[in-house]
Amino acid sequence: MFAVTATRIDADDPLAGLAAGERPDPVPPAGWTTVTVRAAALNHHDVWTLRGVGITEDRLPIVVGCDAAGVDEDGNEVIVHSVIGDPDVAGGDETLDPRRSLLSERYDGTFAERVAVPRRNLVPKPAALSFEEAACLPTAYLTAYRMLFGKSGVQPGSTILVQGAGGGVATALILLGRAAGFRVWATSRSEEKQERARELGADQAFPAGSRLPERVDAVMETVGEATWAHSLRSLRPGGRIVVSGATSGAVPPADLNRVFFLQLSVVGSTMGTRDQLGRLARFCEQTGVRPEIDRVLPLREAVDGFAAMIDGDLFGKIVFTV
Ligand SMILES: NC(=O)c1ccc[n+]([C@@H]2O[C@H](COP(=O)([O-])OP(=O)(O)OC[C@H]3O[C@@H](n4cnc5c(N)ncnc54)[C@H](OP(=O)(O)O)[C@@H]3O)[C@@H](O)[C@H]2O)c1
Repeated sequence: MFAVTATRIDADDPLAGLAAGERPDPVPPAGWTTVTVRAAALNHHDVWTLRGVGITEDRLPIVVGCDAAGVDEDGNEVIVHSVIGDPDVAGGDETLDPRRSLLSERYDGTFAERVAVPRRNLVPKPAALSFEEAACLPTAYLTAYRMLFGKSGVQPGSTILVQGAGGGVATALILLGRAAGFRVWATSRSEEKQERARELGADQAFPAGSRLPERVDAVMETVGEATWAHSLRSLRPGGRIVVSGATSGAVPPADLNRVFFLQLSVVGSTMGTRDQLGRLARFCEQTGVRPEIDRVLPLREAVDGFAAMIDGDLFGKIVFTV
């Protein structure tokens, strides 16, 4: 089958390890099944893989890609939950299984004509969502869903700040947050992306790092070093940062004085459970929210999508069709 793989790690030139070509068909072990992929979405995770973050050379070559929507062996339209973990060892939450992985970390990923996954990782695709839209849900949108509704601790009507408006998780946060009744403020380095964030439903959008009209209840952080100080400064006393990514670097100054004096909380968040993915799909169906797609490319042109993501030249999700 045709697949896009990581063949070697290069921290400085991630595209150097990206290859496209023939790979053996997956052979599903007991309890697993094969999905024929119709669409797969790109995540920053796939760039991290090529840079050697979260993976070691001995796992290569490996098919990249966490997200997919496709058709199962019985002809059902499905969304693939990317978290491979045992919910029973972690109180029903497979993201807390110490041995959990995402597709493309230990097992071949989704940028292929077919992918093998545990049978329990299939979630029905709502007919109202296209394969391209559904393929956006398992990583970026699921992460946003858990950040907002599981981790933020704030109620609809509260003000949340989304850093780095153009990203896949960030656009998901704006769309889902708006649909759930939060007052959504966003920042971006680019004026054009600020405008697009407003069009997407952000109440207001600001240049990265700028002083806000008032302090917010919670900050949704995926940018990391470049925005961390601003995230801390922007919170009201007792407010909370939910952090699920660090695109620009992971070790900013902690500013502990501000954290304890203002009694701030910093909460980590990663992906979501299979059940949350099911609820997210229904949330989209019920509210009419559809993932913001920057561009759709044939899988054979995946390298162009990777290059755009590395350059930060995107607004929303890049989706590959198979
Ligand atoms: N924990 C999890 O489960 C999980 C799940 C999904 C993603 N993540 C992580 O979350 C992060 C975002 O993921 P994504 O897929 O949404 O990535 P992405 O689409 O590539 O988002 C990157 C965005 O970050 C913003 N940014 C601001 N300052 C930046 C800087 N100095 N350098 C680079 N980017 C900057 C940019 O927004 P503007 O151009 O608008 O400023 C850019 O659009 C990644 O680090 C990813 O690994 C984690």
